[in-house]
Amino acid sequence: MLKNQINEIRDEALQAFKGAASTKELYDLKVKYLGRQGSLPAIMKKMKDVSPEERPLMGQAMNQAKDALETAYLKFEEELKRGELTKRLSEEKLDMTLPGPPSKLGAHHPIEMVFDEIIDIFSRIGYYVRSGPMIETDDHNFGALNIPPEHPARDMQDTFYIDEEHSLRPHTSPIQIRTLRSEKPPFYVLGPGGVFRCDSDVSHSPMFHQIEGLVVDKKVSMADLKGTLSYFASEFFGKSIKTRFRPSFFPFTEPSAEVDCSCPLCNGKGCRMCGHTGWVEIGGCGLVHPNVLSASDLDNSEWQGFAFGMGIERMAIIKYGISDIRLFYENDNRFLEQFRR
Ligand code: PHE
Repeated sequence: MLKNQINEIRDEALQAFKGAASTKELYDLKVKYLGRQGSLPAIMKKMKDVSPEERPLMGQAMNQAKDALETAYLKFEEELKRGELTKRLSEEKLDMTLPGPPSKLGAHHPIEMVFDEIIDIFSRIGYYVRSGPMIETDDHNFGALNIPPEHPARDMQDTFYIDEEHSLRPHTSPIQIRTLRSEKPPFYVLGPGGVFRCDSDVSHSPMFHQIEGLVVDKKVSMADLKGTLSYFASEFFGKSIKTRFRPSFFPFTEPSAEVDCSCPLCNGKGCRMCGHTGWVEIGGCGLVHPNVLSASDLDNSEWQGFAFGMGIERMAIIKYGISDIRLFYENDNRFLEQFRR
């Protein structure tokens, strides 16, 4: 009877499955008995010789045999897999004390370093940081800073306009206005940030950085301003640095001055960096114009102040002797790696 043959093959296969030593061996046995050329399917070919009565019985036996083998296969496979995994894990030894692959340390960007250092120097004398958006209103950028509508600073050639009312801030001075209007004096504020002007060559970039300083208190004088910026320059560039103040003009300060310090590269003797003058300019400053205070609803007979603005790229160029402003924005590692702290 074919049915008996089927059952014999089934039992033989089950026995063989049980004895398989690896998943690979088990799989080969599955192919041998159940595969397309396997011994069980081979019996199907004999179907045509079977009497019609016996056929259903044979089909049934065939299906049962196949099911039994499939189930047994899955069971043994699972067991073998588990055994193989345990064996592999016990053989593979991980040395947790081995050093990992070296991780590359990044370097601070010189612009960030200069910001950090300036903020650090001023925070030692009580200053704190405030900020503002890069897209500013006309009033914050100009109007409230006493810059009249016809002033050249408002010109499209200098300022990137977004629309009639808004532009990319061309300086950090709007942070003065935001502070004056949102907090109560006294103020000892720093306003660091990115600024934008239509300008581009070796010493100008359309996007650069400034830091604003604003002090508002009772009885603030030009002497306080000079003392503060001299303190800053000697902390930032070195004790031997001298400062000088040249009369200048800004609509939002009165009187106004430009601050120079003796060239830290040649110690004031004259070199390429300072254009052989012995002095380098570090920023603009002055006493806060009374109109700026009153435009922000502060009583200008009660409060006085000074403000200053410095270019960060300029400070970095002077401090590190950098020849081209574009180096700051190219992300060339050979340049940036030199500023590892
Ligand atoms: N905002 C001026 C500039 O961008 C700098 C400045 C700030 C001058 C504060 C005086 C007081 O050139």
